[in-house]
Amino acid sequence: MAVVSLFSVGGAPGVTVSSLGLALSWPRPVLLVDANPNAGSAVLAGYLRGQMPHDRGLLDLAIAHRAGDLGAAVGATAREIPGSKVRYIPGLRSHVQAPTTTSLWEPLSGVLRSLEQQGMDAIVDCGHLGLVGAPKPIVHTSDVALLTTRTSLPDLSAARSWAKELSGEFQQLGTPDHLGCLVVGEGQPYGHREVQKVLRLPVVSALPWDPETAAVFHHGADAPKRFTNSPLNRGLRATAQAILGLITTNRERLGTHAPSQEPTRA
Ligand SMILES: Nc1ncnc2c1ncn2[C@@H]1O[C@H](COP(=O)(O)OP(=O)(O)O)[C@@H](O)[C@H]1O
Ligand SMILES: [Mg+2]
Repeated sequence: MAVVSLFSVGGAPGVTVSSLGLALSWPRPVLLVDANPNAGSAVLAGYLRGQMPHDRGLLDLAIAHRAGDLGAAVGATAREIPGSKVRYIPGLRSHVQAPTTTSLWEPLSGVLRSLEQQGMDAIVDCGHLGLVGAPKPIVHTSDVALLTTRTSLPDLSAARSWAKELSGEFQQLGTPDHLGCLVVGEGQPYGHREVQKVLRLPVVSALPWDPETAAVFHHGADAPKRFTNSPLNRGLRATAQAILGLITTNRERLGTHAPSQEPTRA
């Protein structure tokens, strides 16, 4: 199965909203990991409106890793997002804990990849890649790594050098097809073709601008009418299919096992 990472390289384009929304739209069992080195669990405080205590998370994984028990800790730390099939590992409670996670990323990446045996995928919110303690090893080993960006000129200008650097890194790793873009706000003002041209990265999917639906994921706002069929939720389901399609294509090209696709809930 697959590890999918989402990250930003400037501003706050919508990594957390897109990661959570994608996990909730995912057609298979999925583990959502908050690996953002900037502390404060956006999902617990936002989408879940602070109703679930932040009593375990990434720090527990770092401690378990030191004790040589990371594999079991991932399952024990994950909690179910109510009303969904998504399991969720909250992030750090304090930004000063960020350095403790530096040695966690590589082994955690291995554990996430091994979730395959349980028929589970992982979606990782990596936050801003430029922060101290950013989970770059997870990005590097993802089946699909998504540079998440909006489309304004300042956004694209900030992303250009990152896109170039990351392309070089994925080339060196021998997995250039694993890196792509996720556009947030197609046509706000530019479209995915312009983004692709400027960043020289394939756009795996483009999500529509839909503030009402995004507010549900971002801070637990009341769901608007036709929430399930809102532009963003439709876009998220299409994005899940685009990602799974890309993984299948990449694995077929390499002759490795492709994930079986179950019908979507959409
Ligand atoms: N597709 C979208 N349409 C409209 N607003 C969005 C969309 N995605 C995110 N947002 C908004 O963008 C802001 C930042 O989102 P967030 O996911 O917290 O960004 P990040 O995790 O990149 O810092 C929030 O106000 C959120 O509601
Ligand atoms: Mg975020």
